[in-house]
Amino acid sequence: MNIIDGKAVSAAVKEQVKNECDGLKAKGITPGLAVIIVGDDPASQVYVRNKERACEECGFYSEKYALPENTTQEELNALVDRLNKDSRINGILCQLPLPKHLDDKEVINRIDPIKDVDAFHPVNVGAIMIGDYSFLPCTPAGVMELIKSTGVDISGKKAVVIGRSNIVGKPMAMLLLHSNATVEITHSKTADLKEVTKTADILVAAIGKAKFVTADMVKEGAVVIDVGMNRDENGKLCGDVDFENVKDKCSFITPVPGGVGPMTISMLMRNTLTAAKIQNDIK
Ligand code: GUN
Repeated sequence: MNIIDGKAVSAAVKEQVKNECDGLKAKGITPGLAVIIVGDDPASQVYVRNKERACEECGFYSEKYALPENTTQEELNALVDRLNKDSRINGILCQLPLPKHLDDKEVINRIDPIKDVDAFHPVNVGAIMIGDYSFLPCTPAGVMELIKSTGVDISGKKAVVIGRSNIVGKPMAMLLLHSNATVEITHSKTADLKEVTKTADILVAAIGKAKFVTADMVKEGAVVIDVGMNRDENGKLCGDVDFENVKDKCSFITPVPGGVGPMTISMLMRNTLTAAKIQNDIK
């Protein structure tokens, strides 16, 4: 069994982004990212802080908008409208989930698709579907980088995705399909889930349930990617995979923390760089 070092792969991506950013700066262009966070969800605050730090590491310009819990939809929309027009800002990210009284779909639809570095806008989701895209959603793109880092050839392999969210499960399946895997998407209503997951050469767990994937659900020698970020019964950070019991059964596995998490952020940096290049007509 090999543990995939998400921090190392992420650092390599950030290094590459930083080098390209230096090249852009020499041309007078500094990539700029605006991050919006509404309310005081502690997990979201950590994610946003990490995104700001990554911007600094890569040499980006960044703005953070920490809005109070009682922000109205109109106020949030007005901020997005302003950032859409701001030429210093190449990428706009609104951290999800939003407080219940706010409509995340309305915000996503309002972000100019060319600045949508999350790739959540329907225009970008559609572009991913037909394989002709500018931005890939950060977490699935990060997972693809981690799989590539193992040297395992995806083409012709059986891939099973557990979870069907718009942010991870659905685009994840599409990216695996683009790499010529035979893909099955499973979810909470899937019958005989174990029988399906046991067929996976590549298993991606994105369900949000602590230690849900147990050793009996995993094929010997599989590549197991854990997108989960949960707390176990002792309040300790853990993934969707029962790491200690599954690890000896697979060829490669990602840890939590230190697996997919750091990749999501480095892919966001890559998307912001891409956005800056597109908006400045640089190939
Ligand atoms: N909340 C959890 N993951 C994400 C993400 O990738 N992007 C945004 N905007 N919010 C999130």
